[in-house]
Amino acid sequence: MRATVWKAVFPRDFTWGVATSAYQIEGAWNEDGKGESIWDRFSHTSGKIMNGDTGDMACDHYHRYAEDVALMKKLGVKAYRFSVSWPRVLPKGKGVVNNAGLDFYKRLVDELLRAEIEPWICLHHWDLPQAIQNEGGWTNPDSVQYFADYAELLAHELGGKIKRWTVFNEPRCIAWLGYLTGIHAPGKKDMQLAVKVSHHLMLALGKTIQTLKESNHSFRVGTITDLNAVHPIGNRKRDMEAAHKHDQFWNRWFIDPLFNGEYPPLAEEIGLKPTKDDMSLIKQPLDFLGVNYYTRTIAAHDASVPVTQAKGVQKKTPTTEMGWEIYPEGLYEVLMRFRTEYGNPLLYVTENGAAFEDNMTRRGEVQDDDRIAYLRDHIASAYQALRDGVNLKGYFIWTLMDNFEWAEGYSKCFGLVHTDRQTLKRTPKKSFHWYKNVITDNGITF
Ligand code: GCO
Repeated sequence: MRATVWKAVFPRDFTWGVATSAYQIEGAWNEDGKGESIWDRFSHTSGKIMNGDTGDMACDHYHRYAEDVALMKKLGVKAYRFSVSWPRVLPKGKGVVNNAGLDFYKRLVDELLRAEIEPWICLHHWDLPQAIQNEGGWTNPDSVQYFADYAELLAHELGGKIKRWTVFNEPRCIAWLGYLTGIHAPGKKDMQLAVKVSHHLMLALGKTIQTLKESNHSFRVGTITDLNAVHPIGNRKRDMEAAHKHDQFWNRWFIDPLFNGEYPPLAEEIGLKPTKDDMSLIKQPLDFLGVNYYTRTIAAHDASVPVTQAKGVQKKTPTTEMGWEIYPEGLYEVLMRFRTEYGNPLLYVTENGAAFEDNMTRRGEVQDDDRIAYLRDHIASAYQALRDGVNLKGYFIWTLMDNFEWAEGYSKCFGLVHTDRQTLKRTPKKSFHWYKNVITDNGITF
């Protein structure tokens, strides 16, 4: 008997893409007038990054961008999501513009357009100018205006060529990982500072959406947030309560203000008391939301954890190299949440992908079947959400090529393309060819 063939064919206008970020791929950390970022400073501080790795060279995309665009053209993606390094265009974060830095992004965008790949710009993927950090970084309320001014500059310089604008990538990582757990730059561990940062990020988001819209009405403006599925470890009341709080802290904190005009109740418990004006500034109309999804958190009660009294517990199911549970159903779940809890906004999955130990064979091939399985199951899950009424318009894989994975350095590989750490030679993996077929077929077959 033949196994049933199951086909998921996506709508004709569905956007298939890949995503990267400036610090993770560009390198050229101090070239052509670029200023220092907090990630330069952090990675140059001993003990912060696995194996002492830095993004000084990264994938040298700054010099090899044409080759990388050619790879994407081969892959067949319709869109490419990249971020701009703020200190590359404004070395001090404000004031004097570095034209050489701006020119790099102009050349990149022109190259993409020539390849018929739509550029999706992200204004901030964590590499804050160190000069702004020296003034307190995101703890300083003035950063809101500095950021909006930087956005206005880019709108003016690149606006004729780019229609898709995303403001922040994962503000929760900036606030909670940068200021609470301290595993990301600038490496602080202070709850009150973290809360302040989270609020300033949301204000900067509101202000910047306004700025972008005013500078060009034809822009499509959104922002990007990451969500985990969160489940309690069992049905004891205190575990359920822990999951509920964890969800408020890690997920809803950065979404509720956008759609509901208020933070979840936990924020007030922690002492965040925004004004009405603040909340109406934050609640700007969004043309779309980008959702990044990787895994789920199993939450259990733990009285020693401040605020949420919740800790994440590892389940024994298969995990990726990051130690993250492989849980494709969670993508369906988080997408459906937007339909049931947030008024069914227009959504894009702006990141989804997996790190695995990819060994190159002697013939120079990377047979990353585990990545293919991960991607296939998540795309199937996204398809199910679409079938069930979610307003999903596209899907971007994290990431084009193996790159600098933050605190993990180069030890974790998420790419569809292998990057040799000695020569920086790019080699498409099996998953690259697989994704190319997905795009050509506009879907997947089981
Ligand atoms: C993230 C980041 C990426 C990471 C990826 C894998 O948004 O967390 O956007 O920079 O590399 O998520 O951890």
